[in-house]
Amino acid sequence: MTSALGKALGGLVLALALASCDSSQTADAEWSMHGLDEMAQRFADIEQIDTSNVERLGLVFSHDLGTDRGQEATPIMVGGVLYLVSAYDVVQAVDATSGELLWEYDPQVRAASARGCCGPVSRGVAVDDGKVFVGALDGRLIALDAQSGTPVWEVQTIDQSDPLAENYTITGAPRVVGDLVLIGNGGAEFGARGFVTAYHADSGEQAWRFYTVPGEPGVPDNAASDSAMDMAADTWAGEWWKYGGGGTAWDAIEYDPELGLVYIGVGNGSPWNHQMRSDGKGDNLFLSSIVAVDAKTGEYRWHFQTTPAESWDYTATQNIILADLEIDGKLRKVLMQAPKNGFFYVLDRETGEFISGKPFVNVTWATGLDPKTGRPIEAPSARYYRTGEPSFQFPSSGGGHNWPPMAFSPDTGLVYIPAQDVGMPYAAADEEQVIGAYTSGVAMDGGGAMTKEQRDELYARMKGYLIAWDPVKQEQVWRVNQVAPFNGGVLATAGGLVFAGNTARELVAYDAANGEELWSFDAQTAVIAPPISYAIDGVQYIAVLSGWGGGWPLTGGVMALQAGKSVGPNRLLVFALDGEQTLPAFTPPEAPRRAIVSARPEDEAAIARGNKLYARYCLRCHGTGVVSAGAYPDLRASGVVPSEAFSAVVLGGALAPNGMPSFADKLTSGQLNDIRSFIEARSFEDLAQE
Ligand code: HEC
Repeated sequence: MTSALGKALGGLVLALALASCDSSQTADAEWSMHGLDEMAQRFADIEQIDTSNVERLGLVFSHDLGTDRGQEATPIMVGGVLYLVSAYDVVQAVDATSGELLWEYDPQVRAASARGCCGPVSRGVAVDDGKVFVGALDGRLIALDAQSGTPVWEVQTIDQSDPLAENYTITGAPRVVGDLVLIGNGGAEFGARGFVTAYHADSGEQAWRFYTVPGEPGVPDNAASDSAMDMAADTWAGEWWKYGGGGTAWDAIEYDPELGLVYIGVGNGSPWNHQMRSDGKGDNLFLSSIVAVDAKTGEYRWHFQTTPAESWDYTATQNIILADLEIDGKLRKVLMQAPKNGFFYVLDRETGEFISGKPFVNVTWATGLDPKTGRPIEAPSARYYRTGEPSFQFPSSGGGHNWPPMAFSPDTGLVYIPAQDVGMPYAAADEEQVIGAYTSGVAMDGGGAMTKEQRDELYARMKGYLIAWDPVKQEQVWRVNQVAPFNGGVLATAGGLVFAGNTARELVAYDAANGEELWSFDAQTAVIAPPISYAIDGVQYIAVLSGWGGGWPLTGGVMALQAGKSVGPNRLLVFALDGEQTLPAFTPPEAPRRAIVSARPEDEAAIARGNKLYARYCLRCHGTGVVSAGAYPDLRASGVVPSEAFSAVVLGGALAPNGMPSFADKLTSGQLNDIRSFIEARSFEDLAQE
């Protein structure tokens, strides 16, 4: 306000105007739910930090998490306390302005830490009415007292008599819906049947369960979803229940209190390969769908399937954002999702009606969507199990967008998507799947599908982006090119800013209008978890967990090293204007670079068999091509491999408490020798000359 205008209006108005510029006028603001509030837009309506002053943003405190396993969680901030969940589901309560640790709760899940596709990660806790809810990797849902961290109740959400029980994990954040707390699960890569269960928040007593795929015909489910399951069962064939069928709901669960609906993002098929899962027949409801159920009873209301007859790990579990958008002159209650399959969807959230959908990244498996129904128009090559040829396609099983949440700013009207172009060859596995191994029905080594040239071309085309997307026009407004794919979740703020971390070890602030980079912070490790913002006593804070994890650093191999070494000390980092703290210096440890053998093993047949076995059992943790991106040991340089200890580790389970499973029930010692030959060959190829 100019002083001339101030004089004209009188001193009182001037004083008010000045006061409104003063930071003490920033109202307190919490981050009370996973997506901030029920709309789940991840838009913090706080404007103290804005495009004009964000360069003054600095660290006010950091809090060491004492692990280098992955960090994916959205912190919750209520009542001046940050509630975090770190690797292995360790929950911490931390003072949100000082960083003081108030309490810690460890659910002891290390014995189960070899389960799941993507390391012992968690995407968050829920906090409500004096309780903190956390899902544990081993399938438990635990309620803690928010003051003390003491357990109040605990339930095992997975039926332990289910022959597939060991394959389930929980990595998602519980959601509080009225007086219920909801949780799903993961595990469709290993053999699982997805479901979401609602428990009474005060007692832990079960209220309802919604299965996402039908069970074995004739066996009653005793679930509210029975009638929906009748409808779903008509879209399945074969003996899918032996593999579980999949459809695990491992991330998005959102709630519209006005409509009384809960929206469940449903995962991929188990196994991926539709031929193997369902005799190549039927759409397989509710795989890769958004399903709306009644919040009180769990009864089915509507569904929209993004990828019928799913065959590529194209989950629709990615975060769901609710918004009221003006479309064709009408205000519509919509929900938005950018699932793995590469299309951005806008649906009517009252009815599930398809409003629009367009590819937000390179999509080669489909040529578009039917404009009326939203059903994908598939490319003829996509169904690899039918053509008998590998289908080299975009997106890969990692998706055009994965779990790192996108955000929506009602100010700009744009959705900010952490997206990527990564392709892969899909080829049918040529042998029967093993339940409990990586049961995808797809050859994880690509079935030898790629020549070296194709591989180099693939790597060169891999890109990561932050995309600003107009959901009404269904078009990109701007795009930032990242150093590498698989970057961090997003926060949008009323200060006209977008915050997102990246695999190049930074947290970055961008101008929400045009993507210009305005500020960045060297976090010493990748930042893939989504930042949050809150305000206490007139100060706006930005908080984020740093640390690399999830599937990409484990499986990606050389591809996941594009941004350099991204594994480092994991922390809670909290920023405000004029923060002056610094992190202690950190130098990433050098990995040993010596071959473990002096000559390539001679038995080529053994190497070839070992390659297949490695792809099935070891690749998901030790990396494509036996190249580790740093999260787990690089076996090319492991002295254990040629030694006696190899068998003790791989068959004897010597390192099981650290997340290295025992394969005693899956591998013979002859097969182990084949794997050894393959690893030794890879070691010699890559490291002998150096
Ligand atoms: C679920 C993830 C996972 C899978 C699958 C897995 N590993 Fe591991 N592996 C680990 C982790 C984590 C460690 C490190 C354990 C530790 O820190 O003590 C490890 C360590 C090892 C080591 C010891 C390395 C060293 O130098 O200390 C060997 C050898 C090994 N794994 C071989 C294998 C083989 C062979 C397979 C496949 C048959 C396999 N692993 C599958 C996670 C896995």
